[in-house]
Order: sequence, then C-alpha cells, then structure tokens
Amino acid sequence: MIYLYWNLLTKSDAVCTNVGNVNTMGLGILVLSVLLGLFYGASDINCSTVHGNTTDHRSLLDFKGAIRADPRGVLRSWNENIHYCMWPGIKCSTWHPERVTVLNLANLSLAGQITPYLGNLTFLRELTLSNNLFSGHLPPLNRLIRLRIIDLHDNLLQGNIPNALTNCSELVGLDLSFNMLVGSIPQNIGSLFNLIGIDLSNNSLTGNIPRTFGNNSYLEELRLTHNQLKGSIPEDLGKLPNMGVSRAVYLGQNRLSGRVPTTLFNLSNLIILDLSRNTLRGTLPSNIGNLSVALQWLFLGANNLSGTVPPSIGALKDLTALDLGGNNFVGPIPYSIGNLAKLQKLYLSNNHFDGW
Ligand SMILES: *[C@@H]1O[C@H](CO)[C@@H](O)[C@H](O)[C@H]1NC(C)=O
Ligand SMILES: *[C@@H]1O[C@H](CO)[C@@H](O)[C@H](O)[C@H]1NC(C)=O
Ligand SMILES: *[C@@H]1O[C@H](CO)[C@@H](O)[C@H](O)[C@H]1NC(C)=O
Ligand SMILES: *[C@@H]1O[C@H](CO)[C@@H](O)[C@H](O)[C@H]1NC(C)=O
Ligand SMILES: *[C@@H]1O[C@H](CO)[C@@H](O)[C@H](O)[C@H]1NC(C)=O
Ligand SMILES: *[C@@H]1O[C@H](CO)[C@@H](O)[C@H](O)[C@H]1NC(C)=O
Ligand SMILES: *[C@@H]1O[C@H](CO)[C@@H](O)[C@H](O)[C@H]1NC(C)=O
Ligand SMILES: *[C@@H]1O[C@H](CO)[C@@H](O)[C@H](O)[C@H]1NC(C)=O
Ligand SMILES: *[C@@H]1O[C@H](CO)[C@@H](O)[C@H](O)[C@H]1NC(C)=O
Repeated sequence: MIYLYWNLLTKSDAVCTNVGNVNTMGLGILVLSVLLGLFYGASDINCSTVHGNTTDHRSLLDFKGAIRADPRGVLRSWNENIHYCMWPGIKCSTWHPERVTVLNLANLSLAGQITPYLGNLTFLRELTLSNNLFSGHLPPLNRLIRLRIIDLHDNLLQGNIPNALTNCSELVGLDLSFNMLVGSIPQNIGSLFNLIGIDLSNNSLTGNIPRTFGNNSYLEELRLTHNQLKGSIPEDLGKLPNMGVSRAVYLGQNRLSGRVPTTLFNLSNLIILDLSRNTLRGTLPSNIGNLSVALQWLFLGANNLSGTVPPSIGALKDLTALDLGGNNFVGPIPYSIGNLAKLQKLYLSNNHFDGW
C-alpha cells in the first residue's frame, strides 16, 4: 500500500537547495504531496555527440543483470541501440549530461536483488523501485549525496537500514515501508535535516525511536506503524519549534511504553495521531482539547491509558475518528463528545467507564 506519494514538479537540478520550503506542501488524509520539483525537461542540451558516462552505463547494466524476473518486459529496451539516458525509467541531468539523476521503475513486478553498483550513480536524485519484488539488502547509498527521494516501499528487502544512509543529507522523502527490514532506525536520523516525510512502517524494526527525530525540523509525516519498536516516545518529537508543521504521526502497533509525552500535544498542526496498540500508560492531559484544531484522527486504542477522559476532548471539532477503546479509562464519558459533529467512528469499548 502506498502511503507517501511524491509529486515531482519544477525545479532545475542546478538549484537543488532550499528544499525546506514547506509552503508548497499539501496533505491529504493518506497522501502527502510534496512539490519539490526536479526539472528534467528539455533545456539547452548541447551534447549531441557525448558518449555517456561509462560508470553510470555499467551500473545500469549491472542493475539489469541482477533482475531475475521482468514480466512486463520493460527492461527489454535497456539495450545498446538506445542511449541509456533514454531507457524507460531513466532520466539524466541536463547540466551534467549523461549522468543519471532518476531511476524510477515502480509497479512492474520486477524481481531480483538491487545491485550494489547503484551506489556508483553519484548524480542520482530519485530512486524509486516501489511495489516490486526486490529482495536482498539495500544497496550502499552513502555516496549518493544528491539523493532527495528514496522510495523502495512494498518490496521484500531484508537486513538493516545502514547508518551511513544519513550521508544522503539532501533526502526529502524516505519510504522503506512494507519490507522485511530489521535492526534499529539509524540513531543519527536527525541529521537528515531536509526530511519532510519518512515511512518505515510494516517492517520488523526494533530498538527505540531515535530522539534525534526532533532534529528533523521540516518533518510533516512520520510513519513507524507496525514494527517492534520499544521504549518510550521521545519528548523531543514535539519539542522543536518547527515540528509544528508536522501533520501526521503514526506510531501505532509497536511495543512502545511509558507515558504519552505532553510535548506531543504541542504539535498544533496535526491531522493524524496514531499511538494505538502499544503499552502506553498514564492519563490524558486535561488540555488535550488544545492538541490541534485540525486533528481528524486520534487513535489511542489498545493501550493501558487510565484516568478520566478530559471534557476538553470535545474541542477537537474536526475529529472524524476517535479510538479510546481497550484502555483503563474510568468515570463518565464526557458529554462534550456529543459536540464532535464530524465524528464517524467512535470506539470506547473495553474500558471501565461508569454506566457502560
Ligand atoms: C563518470 O562518473 C564517474 C563517477 O562519478 C567519474 O569518476 C568519471 O569521471 C565520469 N566519467 C565521465 C566520462 O564523465
Ligand atoms: C505506481 O502505482 C501507484 C499507485 O497505483 C501510483 O500512484 C504511481 O504513480 C505508480 N508509479 C508508476 C511509476 O507507475
Ligand atoms: C561500482 O560499484 C561496485 C560495487 O559496489 C564496485 O565494485 C566498483 O568498483 C564501483 N566502481 C565503478 C567505477 O564501477
Ligand atoms: C559520505 O559522502 C562523502 C562524499 O561522497 C564521502 O566522502 C564519505 O565517505 C561518505 N561517508 C560514508 C559514511 O559513506
Ligand atoms: C540534533 O540537534 C542537537 C542540538 O541542536 C545537536 O546537538 C545534535 O548533534 C543533533 N543531532 C543530529 C543527529 O543531528
Ligand atoms: C503489515 O504487516 C503486518 C505484519 O507485520 C501484517 O499482518 C499486515 O497485513 C501488513 N499490512 C499490509 C497491508 O500488508
Ligand atoms: C508547548 O509550547 C509552548 C509554547 O511554545 C511552550 O511554552 C510549552 O512549554 C510547550 N509545552 C510542552 C509540554 O512542551
Ligand atoms: C488552550 O490554550 C489556550 C491558549 O493557549 C488557553 O487559553 C486554553 O485554556 C487552553 N484550553 C485548554 C482546554 O487547555
Ligand atoms: C495497566 O495499568 C494498571 C495500573 O493502571 C496495571 O495494574 C496493569 O498491570 C497494567 N497492564 C499492563 C498490561 O501493563
């Protein structure tokens, strides 16, 4: 399933900084559209007789060679009769002709390993191989310091997320969801300063949620659902001033424990907060109604939260789904929940509410 959806629009590859401009971002409920723009269109291509970069050429041939199944035959036209910059899924730089900037072969049922030779495509800015059957380990990406998008979701990738990935400091979007990755999330993930969206959900990741996520000041969408992450939710997640732009935080279906950090309730632009199916404990803060007027989904179900549900929850006017089920809440169900006019899904069962 695709959660992060990257829209690539205008921008010259010569002007590739300042990706932190979040004004152009828009978020649908399940869809984050990032308008970054890599402009690969026809401009002054004065390179009619170039022969190509042999390193890039060789890397692509090796990539093709490692693919065992190509049911749609898309790689058939990856041959010597066609310049590799014209091969399906490939784009090259206009400013550095013959250097590959985009490798995008999504949704093609390609099977095989991702060759380590990809690590030589040093001008690569987008690597999209999502929704295929690639297995084996992630290729070494640490030298690809121009990478802005890595989208390998929905494959069969195994092994760790290497720490050296954080060498790709231009990364804006990282989607490794729906694979079989293990190990912990790189602790220095916070050094990916430009990150806007990260989706590592549906893997088998263990260890803690790195505190340094608080350093990803432009982060709008964080998805870590359905892993085996443990420990407490780092306070830093809600601490940094720019985390106010954060729109969606999914930490559900892990093994997170401890209290819900109050800093999370400072993420005033949140649309989605999913902390369900962990072992979180403690009470809800009385000012939960101040969380975010934009909040649409609040999932806290199947935890060990206790105490009463603060009446201020009725202030979350945009809520369409509220899940408090499967906790240890007591006392009355606040009348104010009746004010939530947009509510379509409400789960309160398996608590100790009075009169239920
Ligand atoms: C091709 O790319 C490699 C790796 O960056 C570089 O070392 C080499 O000089 C390039 N060759 C040409 C002909 O541009
Ligand atoms: C792959 O499929 C998804 C979902 O259907 C779609 O959004 C995306 O544009 C497709 N990508 C390519 C390169 O076909
Ligand atoms: C490219 O990558 C491969 C595998 O990582 C490596 O063996 C090779 O030396 C690299 N360099 C060139 C120029 O192909
Ligand atoms: C990060 O990239 C730089 C520049 O290509 C390179 O010199 C350095 O070795 C890389 N670091 C790691 C850990 O791969
Ligand atoms: C995160 O930010 C803090 C404070 O600005 C800094 O000391 C730390 O080195 C940063 N960590 C990373 C991984 O960037
Ligand atoms: C996500 O992973 C879990 C197992 O970890 C699996 O049960 C679930 O079906 C997966 N979801 C999808 C949509 O593949
Ligand atoms: C929330 O933000 C306000 C204003 O920035 C700050 O004063 C307050 O301490 C923050 N609360 C938490 C729990 O971080
Ligand atoms: C929400 O915040 C406002 C101002 O920051 C404050 O006046 C109000 O009492 C708060 N509401 C709740 C329920 O905490
Ligand atoms: C849930 O919290 C209660 C106390 O509030 C405690 O007695 C119980 O053991 C906890 N259950 C789990 C599964 O942590």
